[in-house]
Amino acid sequence: MKIFVTGGAGFIGSNFIKYWMTKNPSDYIINLDLLTYAGNLENLKDIENNPNYKFVKGDICDVVLVNDLVKDIDLIVNFAAETHVDRSIINSQDFIRTNVEGTRVLLDIAKKNNIRFHHTSTDEVFGALKFDDQKFSERTAYDPRSPYSASKAASDHLVRAYFHTYKLPITISNCSNNYGPYQFPEKIIPLFITNLLENKKVPVYGFGQNIRDWIYVDDHNAGVEAIIKKGRIGETYCLGGNNELTNLELTKKILKLMNKKEEMIEYVADRLGHDLRYAIDFSKVKNELGWFPKINFEQGLIKTIEWYKNNKTFWELN
Ligand SMILES: NC(=O)c1ccc[n+]([C@@H]2O[C@H](COP(=O)([O-])OP(=O)(O)OC[C@H]3O[C@@H](n4cnc5c(N)ncnc54)[C@H](O)[C@@H]3O)[C@@H](O)[C@H]2O)c1
Repeated sequence: MKIFVTGGAGFIGSNFIKYWMTKNPSDYIINLDLLTYAGNLENLKDIENNPNYKFVKGDICDVVLVNDLVKDIDLIVNFAAETHVDRSIINSQDFIRTNVEGTRVLLDIAKKNNIRFHHTSTDEVFGALKFDDQKFSERTAYDPRSPYSASKAASDHLVRAYFHTYKLPITISNCSNNYGPYQFPEKIIPLFITNLLENKKVPVYGFGQNIRDWIYVDDHNAGVEAIIKKGRIGETYCLGGNNELTNLELTKKILKLMNKKEEMIEYVADRLGHDLRYAIDFSKVKNELGWFPKINFEQGLIKTIEWYKNNKTFWELN
């Protein structure tokens, strides 16, 4: 199979490419990435000379380039996006451009060439849960509340619309918060690990009571693989880690594993419109495709901490 991956120099995309190439070594992958601040070719150093892999620097909004690259492609997997909620609150322009218009460009080209399309999205499109609400599932109505999640929701709607209108063979995954190696240290887990490695305090929003569901990146990518290989066309699948933690609980776990004291916590002003809780009911993908998250959180966190300790060049200049 020939696969066109977008955003493959970012956190999840680079892990996906290496995961896929290990499991499907005869497949050929083209990786198109604009190399924004979040993209890093060092993430792909170990496969850069693989004859079944090609990197192209470029923009998913570039119709001519994408048209040229998708010749003979069997599958598009779209990871390219602007992804940091805090940045979207400061300025949403790039989020609308890449996440909405970029997805539209890819869909039109997929439609023209009838290419199977998998779109990776987030649980944040569903809005926020109260402490005692039922978890999000594929049946939850969309209610995005940040410019980031609104742009991802718009892209998901477009992907579904191309299925219903044009019968484009699509699938969508909505996943909870990922962690693992190669994540840019603006997101909470790598930010806190790298701060602590430099003996700096860790900034916890508000009182740290917001809840997130954490999933190791390889578990997410195994879910994407299951959907690509066995998922029903036109369907959405929710992927989750079954691992809800308040930000304060998460922070204390990181502190403990890194032998740091709780006085390293610095409570800072809360994020604007901070969603209280995300949690995913992944019974659909479990029942239909046999997927469930396998990596124990503490073990995944230890592996992640070790990776940041051993890969200072990845983050020291950021
Ligand atoms: N990180 C998470 O916890 C999480 C959870 C669920 C879903 N997702 C989704 O998974 C996808 C990947 O997330 P991530 O955390 O790896 O993001 P990331 O920010 O680490 O990487 C995004 C990549 O996209 C590239 N990119 C940005 N604009 C581009 C453009 N116009 N053209 C081509 N490439 C461009 C960047 O250079 C970067 O390499 C996103 O769609 C995101 O919404 C992320």
